[in-house]
Amino acid sequence: MKTILITGCSSGFGLDTARHFLDREWNVIATMRTPREDLLPRSAHLRVLALDVTDPESIRHAVDAAGPIDVLVNNAGIGVLNALEGMSMEAVREIFETNTFGTIAMTQAVLPQFRERRAGVIVNVTSSVTLKGLPLLSVYTASKAAVNAFTETLALELQQFNVRVNVVLPGRAPETRFGENARARMKAGVPEPYAELAQRFFAGMEQSTEGEITYSIDVTEAIWRAANDPSSPIRIAAGADALALMNNASNNASI
Ligand SMILES: NC(=O)c1ccc[n+]([C@@H]2O[C@H](COP(=O)([O-])OP(=O)(O)OC[C@H]3O[C@@H](n4cnc5c(N)ncnc54)[C@H](OP(=O)(O)O)[C@@H]3O)[C@@H](O)[C@H]2O)c1
Repeated sequence: MKTILITGCSSGFGLDTARHFLDREWNVIATMRTPREDLLPRSAHLRVLALDVTDPESIRHAVDAAGPIDVLVNNAGIGVLNALEGMSMEAVREIFETNTFGTIAMTQAVLPQFRERRAGVIVNVTSSVTLKGLPLLSVYTASKAAVNAFTETLALELQQFNVRVNVVLPGRAPETRFGENARARMKAGVPEPYAELAQRFFAGMEQSTEGEITYSIDVTEAIWRAANDPSSPIRIAAGADALALMNNASNNASI
């Protein structure tokens, strides 16, 4: 039976991915900043561990307590919506600490066991905003684009050890708490010169039709594919909107 460790399992994609793998006879190590035993079904195959990906001690404890794992999913992430001028450098660093450095630190922590066993898969959850830019998301997009580049480059040095690294790029998924959390981080508010742009942006998001969004199941299935299919591409789009953007990006590249 294989073992998967997932970061950010208190809600959204992380929680659903934990359920998806548990239902399919995997050992699941569901990690959360604040561990809660009541979110997932009781199972002999489930362990809930504390993990804050921005805290090196927390990473060390969680990886030690987890023992050998086969798959790491770097899912924990935070968003922020604001014009760059409306963000402090502290807020910028907070985004990178979680989305980018958290992913890199977790990867570093599991690599020795993967390399020694000549086996292992790392799945990094980034975003389809890295395929087509959107206003008010410059910092978030940069933090995720860095993970795309990190993943694709790291894959080159890990291939010799039979260790795979993938990115899953979800589109916009309003069913998770992500948007709400990102808006909560707009504490300072959008600076006045950007207010009209922000208004248009939010109105546009509300007009998106159902067919153009991503559902949590799209993401869990993409993570499942990355974990189980050695022939899966390094970049896997998740959700109808993300797939459309990925197809456009590759069509443009081939023109
Ligand atoms: N929903 C979307 O539209 C969307 C689209 C593209 C990509 N994504 C990406 O998908 C991933 C999951 O997002 P989601 O939509 O499922 O949002 P979510 O419901 O807000 O879940 C985010 C998870 O990350 C955890 N987290 C935040 N900071 C952490 C830290 N320092 N250490 C460990 N865990 C931390 C949160 O835990 P707490 O409960 O402790 O805060 C939560 O469990 C993120 O990487 C996000 O960037 C989301």
